[in-house]
Amino acid sequence: MPATVVAGNWKMNTTLDEARALAEGVRALAQGAPGVEVILCPPAISLAAVRDAVSGSPVKVGAQNIYHEDSGAFTGEIAPAMLGGICEYVIIGHSERRQLFGETDGQVNLKVKAAISHGLGPIVCVGETLEQRVAGQAAEVISGQVRAALDGIDAVNISGLIVAYEPVWAIGTGQAATPEIAGEIMGGAILDTLQSLYGSSSAEVPLLYGGSVNAGNIGDFAAQSCIHGALVGGASLQAESFMDIARMAGETKRAGG
Ligand code: 13P
Repeated sequence: MPATVVAGNWKMNTTLDEARALAEGVRALAQGAPGVEVILCPPAISLAAVRDAVSGSPVKVGAQNIYHEDSGAFTGEIAPAMLGGICEYVIIGHSERRQLFGETDGQVNLKVKAAISHGLGPIVCVGETLEQRVAGQAAEVISGQVRAALDGIDAVNISGLIVAYEPVWAIGTGQAATPEIAGEIMGGAILDTLQSLYGSSSAEVPLLYGGSVNAGNIGDFAAQSCIHGALVGGASLQAESFMDIARMAGETKRAGG
């Protein structure tokens, strides 16, 4: 059974001071969500401050993106090695990066490999657009994204891997997927692909749902056996709402969800 994980993707929000205060708020509430791996993913400029704010607590830190090269003339980019000692995870292939910044499956794969080779746990994001869903292509799109992201990565290297299913149409819209839709894709296309790639090792990979998660709907998602937590955007920008989600995810999974 994978760990229960609730990660907050702050996206391009919070100043340095706001990031520090939010992280301190989460830290103060961390004991309310026992057994849940809570991960904060602030903007890169605030990573070190957030690391300091949660140091000594169980709260973990993740970046929102990396570049795949080790160093060099790549103005504005951040190399995985630069995150050593600052964070343990990195979000890769978020749909906003794919859609707004043209990130391809091939680049996602390079980044996942770079993250793993530097000891960072990749939080690999996949998700179909509304057009793809309406055209009946959701499962095929998702399997393809998972397969491409993990191309050439062996089972021995997936210990820190997390996969997040974030349907594009559910992100920031207030229109979450239904738990049944999420469960169908996660327990179907995603799990089947992971099983075909990694056999029994795939059973330890946490699968997160993302897209308009809040304290009111997390229980229904976490009640699905193939959903092990959430990747939260908007509702992660307030410590109380975020930790309500983490607490409820933990309670639901402990109750057998
Ligand atoms: P929202 O929770 O704001 O819909 O964002 C989800 C997301 O994109 C997390 O990565």
